[in-house]
Amino acid sequence: MADNRAIGVFDSGLGGLTVAREIMKLLPNENIVYFGDTGRVPYGTKGRETIRKYALQDERFLLSCNVKMIVAACGTVSSVASDTAEQLPVPFVEVVSHSVNAAIAATKSGKIGVLATNATISSGAHKKQILKLMPDAQVVEAAGTLLVPIVEEGWIGEDDAVAIETLKRYLAPMIENNIDTLILGCTHFPVLSSIIRNILGDSVALINMGEATAKAIEKMLENTDCLNDGAKTAQYKFYASDKTKSFEKTVKVLLGNYNKDFEIEQVDIEKV
Ligand code: DGL
Repeated sequence: MADNRAIGVFDSGLGGLTVAREIMKLLPNENIVYFGDTGRVPYGTKGRETIRKYALQDERFLLSCNVKMIVAACGTVSSVASDTAEQLPVPFVEVVSHSVNAAIAATKSGKIGVLATNATISSGAHKKQILKLMPDAQVVEAAGTLLVPIVEEGWIGEDDAVAIETLKRYLAPMIENNIDTLILGCTHFPVLSSIIRNILGDSVALINMGEATAKAIEKMLENTDCLNDGAKTAQYKFYASDKTKSFEKTVKVLLGNYNKDFEIEQVDIEKV
């Protein structure tokens, strides 16, 4: 048995494309429907009830696209609104637990950093899960609020002074506490990996939640016999709640090598 329906992926905006691209890389046969709530991004600075309301609408939209699974490719939704998926008729995948598992596997000293949005850090989702699995761990958290707009602007070059200085400030407590593993707990941050590596050095393991989540999705689909049987080439469909001037630039930055010419259809998500 195979299931050739698409995997539904959503994020508060375009950042979730860093997760989508890891799914494309690992599972090239899988069709993907992506929804980015670009009209209401960022979620990371909003309150819990607003984030939950938005997540429910995003999930409802993807269900209307007849997907076989829904992936919350958003650290913020995964941290504060995973319970919105309890009633879903299809499997739900969030990004926090898979990155926590990858961090626990990678750390030697038990000193783990978490860099994410304000809402994610305030929820303590990563810290709680790490301490449950590794009670002796030391978790160092930082809310990297300014990093999301920096990535949206495309200021991600290895020599970009603004990105470097901002990251140095957020990463200072990580260096002070001598972490050996850093969870990039926000979808936008993988594209800053080179700068982060330059600041922290090669000895610190960087956990990309897209990679960790794509591996978990592969396992889930294998175990339930729901992989696409590869009869067709994968189709990617993109939806967003708003289109802005910087849209194409941001898509290019986040999709990296997986950027192709594609149409993005606009959805009135408030009506879903
Ligand atoms: N997608 C969000 C996350 O991964 C970052 C952008 C936002 O704040 O909405 O947390």
